[in-house]
Amino acid sequence: MKKLIIINGPNLNLLGKREPSIYGSLSFTEFLETVKQKYPQVQIDYYQSNIEGELIDKLHEVGFSFDGIILNAAAYTHTSVGIGDAIKAIETPLVEVHISNTFAREEFRHQSYISPNAKGVILGFGLQSYELAIQSFL
Ligand code: DQA
Repeated sequence: MKKLIIINGPNLNLLGKREPSIYGSLSFTEFLETVKQKYPQVQIDYYQSNIEGELIDKLHEVGFSFDGIILNAAAYTHTSVGIGDAIKAIETPLVEVHISNTFAREEFRHQSYISPNAKGVILGFGLQSYELAIQSFL
């Protein structure tokens, strides 16, 4: 069975409550349950942290044994050289996802330290961005 992990960065623990006009009103736990039922042929782990170093530690931990990483680094996408370097250092292919279309938003969200090191990027499809990323690994 393929092993995938979804890693969410800062403030994504508040999905469902946080700016619902941008990020929707479904919590990530609710969404994850549905997606796990829909793709029983793959193992889908989940990790969320608001702390940059913890996200880097998790990438190191899974980055040599998992088949795929789906990363929404949230605000760290636009600032973190450290997360970008961690992705370069690991072997597992990684797909960058965003719920919103970051290119349709403020200019500071157009910069990504993840994209140059990612296998692909999926953004702007709401929570469906994660599902499309899962499909890319099947
Ligand atoms: C986000 C977009 C980022 O710019 C923002 O900081 C987030 C969420 C998204 O999924 O649309 O926290 O990554």
